[in-house]
Amino acid sequence: MTSQNEQLAQIGVVGLAVMGSNLARNFASRGHTVAVYNRSPEKTRTLIADHGSEGDFLPSETVEDFVASLERPRKAIIMVQAGKATDAVINQLADAMDDGDIIIDGGNALFTDTIRREKEMRERNRHFVGAGISGGEEGALTGPSIMPGGPKESWETLGPLLESIAAVVDGTPCVTHIGPDGAGHFVKMVHNGIEYADMQVIGEAYQLLRFGAGMEPAEIADVFAEWNKGDLDSYLIEITAEVLRQVDAETGKPLVDVILDAAGQKGTGRWTVKEALDLGVPTTGIGEAVFARALSSSLDQRAAAKGKLPTGALKTFEDLGLSKEEFIEDVRLALYASKLVAYSQGFDEIQAGSDEHDWGVDPRDLATIWRGGCIIRAKFLNRIVEAYDNDSDLPSLLLDPYFNGELKDLIDPWRKVVLYATQLGLPAPVFTSSLAYYDSLRAERLPAAIVQGQRDFFGAHTYKRIDKEGTFHTLWSGDRSEIEV
Ligand code: 6PG
Repeated sequence: MTSQNEQLAQIGVVGLAVMGSNLARNFASRGHTVAVYNRSPEKTRTLIADHGSEGDFLPSETVEDFVASLERPRKAIIMVQAGKATDAVINQLADAMDDGDIIIDGGNALFTDTIRREKEMRERNRHFVGAGISGGEEGALTGPSIMPGGPKESWETLGPLLESIAAVVDGTPCVTHIGPDGAGHFVKMVHNGIEYADMQVIGEAYQLLRFGAGMEPAEIADVFAEWNKGDLDSYLIEITAEVLRQVDAETGKPLVDVILDAAGQKGTGRWTVKEALDLGVPTTGIGEAVFARALSSSLDQRAAAKGKLPTGALKTFEDLGLSKEEFIEDVRLALYASKLVAYSQGFDEIQAGSDEHDWGVDPRDLATIWRGGCIIRAKFLNRIVEAYDNDSDLPSLLLDPYFNGELKDLIDPWRKVVLYATQLGLPAPVFTSSLAYYDSLRAERLPAAIVQGQRDFFGAHTYKRIDKEGTFHTLWSGDRSEIEV
């Protein structure tokens, strides 16, 4: 710890709950002097008492002292609960700061709030950077993936600091300037949407192995650990194996069996889907994952429906007539295919958001910084980087030659697994909807022609034809001749 008279801090952290404290400790461990402030000073005192010896911290008990302890241009990262609290802290900081100082919001803020805040701060000659930070508590401490938006000039000042604390993969720090104003928080939002889909497909695979093939959690943990050595190598598969291996100390049962099966959500997955709806991007895998959490949490309705709804003629695992090993492999491949669709849809949404807001987000850079530090880090992201290296204007990740080649091997097992899930009566909403998306994308003709006919019939909404230019309407309640409108 250093006294305030001796030196100024290169960076400050406001909000010292676990994420903020860990981020501050990360900066300190890289040799930076870190100013720290929390609204209730106990948290600041605890950080200094427990970790003050890890580096140079400058603790303050007022915002003014905190700002005064920062080197110019001042740089302060806010790590507080997204929402109203963020605005209050930003304004307090902005009041105490000077022209050109930089306020960084490292929470999961809604990107439209970030756009507004950036504009407000710009009008006050302050720089505002909305930065998505992924990696959870551990990542914040040891190396997260960081997605900063905001003005390019801020990146020039901030870049080296953020690079020093980010995860590093193949010598490349997992941080880059994403784009102006809300771009950073937008891509973090979609990252979380992909995270939801990725978690759900792993859950669906578990469900099939557990309640389809009748495997025990510890056995499934071994399967996932094995999967983690191949194409599915990822943080989420790795931690799922650990969760499945955990035994509840109180009951001696697998922990997964005593955890209430009602998934929570704080909002970023839901925002991803709402935004996708507005942009007109079919992020069906993410959407199903968000709805799956909502359905799981509809406990009263589930209790009322349990055992009451007719199942139809279900098959047992034995009826499927395949070995457990074959089933496990089919499920692995179906998971891989559905995951590929979820990422592809997520990157589509990022592209659409970037176009809409003129952010110029580079999907290749994004895939690069998601390879380490973040929750969706996976070996698979290297392939996504290569896909964009080969063609920066890929219309869909599914059309990249490598992934297209993989899909040739995935498609049959994927169809089989969707069929098995249906026959066993086990829900696999992301596996299923991703296959429907895939079949829709590659279809020669879609039933949208029927929808257009219906719209024209009841509301004269008109339609276009495949064989000539123009907009047409059939006189449905008249002589049913067609007119050009
Ligand atoms: C991360 C995580 C982190 C958090 C999300 C998801 O990237 O480090 O995404 O931001 O876990 O907020 O939380 P919910 O599942 O509660 O929505």
